[in-house]
Amino acid sequence: MPEFHALVPAAGFGARMGNQLPKQYLPLAGKPMIAHALETLCACADLATVFVVLSPDDTQFHCHDWSHLGDKLQPLFCGGATRAESVSNGLAASELEPDEWVLVHDAARPCLTQAHLAKLIAELSGDAVGGILAVPVADTLKRADSRQRIECTEPREGLWQAQTPQMFRAGLLTQALRQCRSVTDEASAVEALGLQPRLVEGDSSNFKVTYPQDLLLAELLLNKNR
Ligand code: CTP
Ligand code: MG
Repeated sequence: MPEFHALVPAAGFGARMGNQLPKQYLPLAGKPMIAHALETLCACADLATVFVVLSPDDTQFHCHDWSHLGDKLQPLFCGGATRAESVSNGLAASELEPDEWVLVHDAARPCLTQAHLAKLIAELSGDAVGGILAVPVADTLKRADSRQRIECTEPREGLWQAQTPQMFRAGLLTQALRQCRSVTDEASAVEALGLQPRLVEGDSSNFKVTYPQDLLLAELLLNKNR
């Protein structure tokens, strides 16, 4: 049976958060934000390794004690200028076999749960392509014109918001990212190969912490689930 591994891109600056400290290291419910996802991934029995891709200039990772996560946690100081580059570099450094599964998860999604992971793995481990956690769009969608007035209302039927983890075989994902560098998620690179990743329905609690106002909601959820 091919093994499952996680790969966590964590080499961004968090420009939209507007803090000097990269957002993955901001304190959140008593620990650096990145610790939440790493602890959840390391506690998942299905995952053999949890690679975390850090900037070569990272000064923060070793300021924290990660010994409770054991050998499963493998830091790789090979992050790139974009998320896709960080994932691509991390995959190369991980030396995974082409048929092994890799679950790419944002460091900035701290509210990931074991239930999310279990559902993703259960629905995709027999899939030929792989897929992603996602949620159907709930709000009415408006298209803006250049004056920020509503041009039209877009039908939301069939639209989903992509989340992470995004789960693909290491060989396919490496090939996809090599051919398509300007993508904001792994699925887009796989789609560019003409394949159709599966959408596995998650929920909105697994949101990405992007702006300062997202920190409070993440903290409330994390404290509630303790
Ligand atoms: N990421 C990365 N390498 C980059 C850019 C982003 O590994 N060059 C990671 C981030 O650290 C984060 C994930 O990709 O865990 C999702 O990216 P995003 O939320 O956009 O984080 P940032 O790029 O850091 O934030 P911003 O876009 O606001 O600058
Ligand atoms: Mg970004």
